[in-house]
Amino acid sequence: MSLPTPTPTSRAVVTGASSGIGAALAEGLARRGYSLILVARREDRLRELADRLAADYGVTAEIRAVDLSDRAERAKLGDELAAREIAVLCNNAGFASYGELASADPARERRQVELNAVAVHDLTLAVLPGMLERRAGAILITGSTAGNQPGPNNATYAASKAFANTLAESLHGELAGTGLQCTLLAPGPVRTEYAEAAGVSNLDRLVPAPLWISAEEAATQAITGMAAGRRRVVPGVFAKVQTVSGQYTPRGLVGPILRTVYRKVK
Ligand SMILES: NC(=O)c1ccc[n+]([C@@H]2O[C@H](COP(=O)([O-])OP(=O)(O)OC[C@H]3O[C@@H](n4cnc5c(N)ncnc54)[C@H](OP(=O)(O)O)[C@@H]3O)[C@@H](O)[C@H]2O)c1
Repeated sequence: MSLPTPTPTSRAVVTGASSGIGAALAEGLARRGYSLILVARREDRLRELADRLAADYGVTAEIRAVDLSDRAERAKLGDELAAREIAVLCNNAGFASYGELASADPARERRQVELNAVAVHDLTLAVLPGMLERRAGAILITGSTAGNQPGPNNATYAASKAFANTLAESLHGELAGTGLQCTLLAPGPVRTEYAEAAGVSNLDRLVPAPLWISAEEAATQAITGMAAGRRRVVPGVFAKVQTVSGQYTPRGLVGPILRTVYRKVK
């Protein structure tokens, strides 16, 4: 199993490319010769990255400033991707929220479900028929270790990432023998703008420094894993420990433990 060979007309799509893991995925794919479609809301950031990647790697980098939590904007992008030669789709955009669900802003929680779960589903559905027709294509879905077990005080995020994790691994199974592949990237703590986007400021203090990995490390492992046709990529030692403990500790026990931890996130 290997990644589709990049061609002048094919594109690798990266959502959430304006920062963090997405920007690193875009650079890793450009380094492998893929021309890109970079997606996020912040157009200035996308433009800056696109210009740099085009100059450094000689690829074409298109940008689409799209709010993926907006169904109408997302549908327009989905229609475009369905009609294009998409070699790689990295469904990576996402954000988290912490606190009790009952006190959360319902509109923000809904946007989170739209972005972390429904948009991932929609864009995957958009590119699959073309990929199957060409018998070539790779899909990456950025889930999380948060999706492996219940997450009290992080409920919408944990549930949306459970969807992402399960969709990726299910599709991986379905695509066996088709020439296509789907890989789950399920990281633990990665140094990005994640905490800022979640509106919290003490994650840095709650999770000791050595347990964090860089966005570049997560992206490099994701792309290597995709190229190897892996079902799941869990970058970093701490994420591997989280994965084993999250999946094998009884849910009745792991829920209250995580509630104690997540209640401290402010
Ligand atoms: N960092 C971690 O510790 C960690 C751990 C596990 C999983 N993850 C997952 O990794 C993925 C990437 O996050 P990150 O850590 O790299 O965080 P980040 O630096 O905050 O990046 C998030 C990206 O998503 C984009 N985005 C947010 N809302 C969007 C919207 N409505 N429409 C389109 N794009 C949107 C942001 O761009 P704009 O703001 O410009 O739209 C940004 O490019 C997420 O799915 C996250 O849940 C992160």
